Amino acid sequence: MKQRSNYWQLLPYIRPHRLTILLALLWIGVYTAFWPIQAWLAGQISKYVGTDVTMLAKIAVAGGLVYIFQGVAQYCMNTLMAKAAFGITLDLRKRAYGHLLGLSGDRLSQMQLGDLSYRLTEDIDKIGEIVNKIFHQFIPCVLQLVVILGYMVYINWQLTLAVFLIAPVIAVLVGWFGEKLQKQSLKSQNQIADLSSLVTEDLGSIRMIQAFAAEDYARKKFGQEAEFNRQAKYLTEKINALQHPIVSFLQVVSILFIFVLAGIQISSGNLTSAEFVIYLTNIVLIISPIALTTSNYNELKQAEASVDRVFELLALPQTITERPDAIVLPPATSKIEYRNVNFGYTSDKTILKDFNLTVKAGETIALVGTSGAGKSTILSLLNRFHDVSSGSISIDGIDIRDVTLKSLRRQIGIVPQDTVLLSGHIAQNIAFGQTAFSIKDVEEAAKIANAHQFISQLSQGYYTYVGEKGTTLSGGQKQRIAIARAVLFNPRILILDEATSALDSESEALVQEALERIMADRTVFIIAHRLATVRKADRILVIENGEIIEAGTHSELLDRSGRYAQFYARQFSKGI
Ligand SMILES: Nc1ncnc2c1ncn2[C@@H]1O[C@H](COP(=O)(O)OP(=O)(O)O)[C@@H](O)[C@H]1O
Ligand SMILES: [Mg+2]
Repeated sequence: MKQRSNYWQLLPYIRPHRLTILLALLWIGVYTAFWPIQAWLAGQISKYVGTDVTMLAKIAVAGGLVYIFQGVAQYCMNTLMAKAAFGITLDLRKRAYGHLLGLSGDRLSQMQLGDLSYRLTEDIDKIGEIVNKIFHQFIPCVLQLVVILGYMVYINWQLTLAVFLIAPVIAVLVGWFGEKLQKQSLKSQNQIADLSSLVTEDLGSIRMIQAFAAEDYARKKFGQEAEFNRQAKYLTEKINALQHPIVSFLQVVSILFIFVLAGIQISSGNLTSAEFVIYLTNIVLIISPIALTTSNYNELKQAEASVDRVFELLALPQTITERPDAIVLPPATSKIEYRNVNFGYTSDKTILKDFNLTVKAGETIALVGTSGAGKSTILSLLNRFHDVSSGSISIDGIDIRDVTLKSLRRQIGIVPQDTVLLSGHIAQNIAFGQTAFSIKDVEEAAKIANAHQFISQLSQGYYTYVGEKGTTLSGGQKQRIAIARAVLFNPRILILDEATSALDSESEALVQEALERIMADRTVFIIAHRLATVRKADRILVIENGEIIEAGTHSELLDRSGRYAQFYARQFSKGI
């Protein structure tokens, strides 16, 4: 934890709204200026009570007008400040989401999704509320305190000195409680986050919990977390509850003290009765800002934990970044080259050692090998899910680290083993990532992908809702949607990573047929367990421990009677 207040980190987000804030500050000034006028009017009333009724009536009208003007000023400052505060929240939220999109998939899968979404929603909401509060409550209260205290000094400094003597005592106590509260609040918020990620996790694995009859275990674990959560919140409230009576008590004592002093001043002729009324009104006017600044201060301390958590998220390094002078990759037309590539996910384990590969445009390259050999890793380097540790990968002679991520990834389509459908209808899923699309193009793509037929048979056709709460599709259907996605995306380079491995042989045939259609005229990398699907590749690479141990066409490799021939014989004998 840093020692300094972390609100300074918000400064860059406040800057774009400075005009609105400035305008609001002006209104705050107007609003504050009315306070001493109110106190002064109260003093005037005391002068004319029982003597001059017309004067009293005039003062009453003036008082009413002051009230109305002050209300208008208050409305203006509050709405302007709210506008700025929620604008800041919006910017921060967009920025945080954008930052998440730039994090590597590995990193995200290591984090708890519930915790992340809490930071993006609750924490940022809290920051918005507190910024709004600082603007429309804290600043006016502080100003009110300053102006009224000034007026009090002006009327009678001896009395005011008494206030100043008591104020530091209150401030020290308030600070101490604030500190305690902040620690507690951080603990309690982490608990809440834990709880929500636990729920997310449990809901995701509820079938497994049921399958293992682990309900008791899950219930107990959840109960424990919920209990921690309760304790943390309860403790925060207890500290809160203790603080209010103490602060109020201090206020009462100080007011009584002032009354006694005022009595002495009046009897010695230092204070008139009208001034005393003004003074009393001032004291009334100062109580609520003192109380509010105290509670605002505590809220400020509590929300600091949220600020920390959001900026912690924003500080997560984006492993893959673009160079500031990155260029747009022109359409890939000639070759892809891996040159002396070394790579490991962690520094202690190298996956690829001095890997070299040159692929001509339009070639179909198959990668085969046991699971864990490094096939997916080799291809994940191509669209920069990870960066090489040394060596380089180039497309048409341009290092992929020199081009924008968008222009690189825009040219590489992927059909993975498991296709994830997002919440939305089928057409949106096929046109994934495109903000505007024509339904005709989507249908064309679906036809090429052998998907049109089954989609037309769904209740709402292309507008059938899929995803978490929608219609469930079979693995083969999902793969064909993924292929339609790739067709529409129309990439120059296509990666099929075990695209048919999870399918039964019937849907595999349909998917295979669709794949063959979209492979034409593209550079294709195909990873497959079933060697039947790689036979037609221009070149087959056998990968072992991150190295190419054999390369050639299907018949060349069979003739060589090496590792590929072994694989093939084994699969053939199993009748796969
Ligand atoms: N995200 C990752 N983080 C750490 N290690 C990984 C990650 N992905 C794969 N590996 C490791 O890298 C090696 C190669 O994996 P992978 O490329 O997925 O093999 P294949 O696709 O041939 O089955 C394996 O030892 C695997 O455990
Ligand atoms: Mg793999």
